[in-house]
Amino acid sequence: MGYLMGSNKIIASAPGKVTLFGEHAVVYGEPALVMSIGKRVYVTTELRNDNLVKIVASDLQLPGVSVTFSGDELIIETDYGKTLSAVAYLRGAIDIVSKYLGIFKGVNVFVRSEMPVGAGLGTSAAVAVATVLAYSKALGYDLEKREIARLGWEVEKSVQGIASPMDTSITTYGGVIKVKLLGGNNYEVKELQASTSLPIVIGYVEREARTKDLIMKVKDLMSRHPDLVSNIIKIIGILVEKAEKTLMEGNLMLLGELMNINQGLLDALGVSNKRLSDLIYAARTAGALGSKITGAGGGGCVIALAPNNQEGVEVAMRLSGGLTMRTSLGGTGAMVHSHEPHTS
Ligand code: PMV
Repeated sequence: MGYLMGSNKIIASAPGKVTLFGEHAVVYGEPALVMSIGKRVYVTTELRNDNLVKIVASDLQLPGVSVTFSGDELIIETDYGKTLSAVAYLRGAIDIVSKYLGIFKGVNVFVRSEMPVGAGLGTSAAVAVATVLAYSKALGYDLEKREIARLGWEVEKSVQGIASPMDTSITTYGGVIKVKLLGGNNYEVKELQASTSLPIVIGYVEREARTKDLIMKVKDLMSRHPDLVSNIIKIIGILVEKAEKTLMEGNLMLLGELMNINQGLLDALGVSNKRLSDLIYAARTAGALGSKITGAGGGGCVIALAPNNQEGVEVAMRLSGGLTMRTSLGGTGAMVHSHEPHTS
């Protein structure tokens, strides 16, 4: 952590992500492989001359909303659940950075997302990490990546109650990483150099449950069948190690097969549903080498590995009731910009 002169206006951004392998098992200490995507969240912070924190969420792919906090007082004009939860991550990030640096200054925070919020693409972690970066920089501090990722994780835990460091790590580092909880608050992040680019199609169906509820659902299954569920979690861990090696070798056929096995195990954990399964099987029938849920499940996103027939896979997913999204993979991790780029 280094101290520079505080600056009035800082623009920071952080990417969304897809989990290639290992969601849910990562909560129990198994490794996960995660990759950033080309869609980002932009957060601009502007220090104020008073103690107010004003948050303007102008485009979270939801109707715009403006919120003002003064001490414990909250002034808000709309009640859109998803926007409120995104706002909680912004507010949480300001509080946690202030506590960490031992300094608080009022601030205007503007946030804009290129991705739908709450879809399982890691937007909440991107919001948390971009805010940690922008606000700490505005206060004059140059935090290391390790510190930014950790503070972002603190924000996620404070808002959600439970979270692994997976999303906040990938949005900080970008590229492809392997993340593993080591116990307590310790975890390790390994940055990987994949030998091939991954032709992935992302599909989306409406979410029926929150990440927190799905984590609790797996926990509940674990408490009723510890012998079975702990072994499923362990097998996912073994699969992730195999997938890492396969990714390094660039063997897409085998990678697709491993995605299908991972999906079967997620289904066994009870986090899939019919709409997700419809998309997953439609993608496979249209020629995808593999497809699975990405993220917590209960609706949200699926990924399909489709090196040959991307368009056919997209059409099949749409015909099965999903939305699809095209984006590049492996986007740069959290960064500061001199001006906000105009991207779609
Ligand atoms: O749906 P998302 O992007 O919030 O991903 C959740 C992934 C879990 O492994 C289920 C939880 C976690 O914090 O790692």
